[in-house]
Amino acid sequence: MRRLLVLLAVLWVCDGVKFGQLCSSNPSNSRRTSDRWGQGQYGAGRGTRLHQGLDIKCSDGAAVYAPFDVTLNGKLTVYTDPSKAAINEGINLSGQGLCFKLFYVRKGQRIGTMLPMQSVYPGITSHIHVQMCDKRDPTPYF
Ligand SMILES: *[C@@H]1O[C@H](CO)[C@@H](O)[C@H](O)[C@H]1NC(C)=O
Repeated sequence: MRRLLVLLAVLWVCDGVKFGQLCSSNPSNSRRTSDRWGQGQYGAGRGTRLHQGLDIKCSDGAAVYAPFDVTLNGKLTVYTDPSKAAINEGINLSGQGLCFKLFYVRKGQRIGTMLPMQSVYPGITSHIHVQMCDKRDPTPYF
């Protein structure tokens, strides 16, 4: 019984949905681990805040793909800081029953292009930030 409940809980969390390849430079959706600017996992420290998304590696200028059939809900602004204008765009998407946002991406033909993150964060592991609209952990979908 206990095992069945655990299995049901796991199925509930994953719901079978998995993100397909997000970035042309990263076929396996590998994650940003640690660099001089911090760590890429959900819940990592960001000064006084916590990281509310999951970072998927993506080289500056790479093509960004829709991870499954998605509806574009519009673009969004990531920062208020004008010194980060070069990467200050993201998109709000829904699909597979999920609503999520991709930061540092500009809407385009293939969905988008990875913005020049190195120009704002020299030496960082350039990445797409994946954040659920309700701020829950996106990791089970990867
Ligand atoms: C994203 O789009 C959805 C659907 O239009 C909307 O409900 C949600 O508020 C938007 N979220 C953000 C953060 O823009």
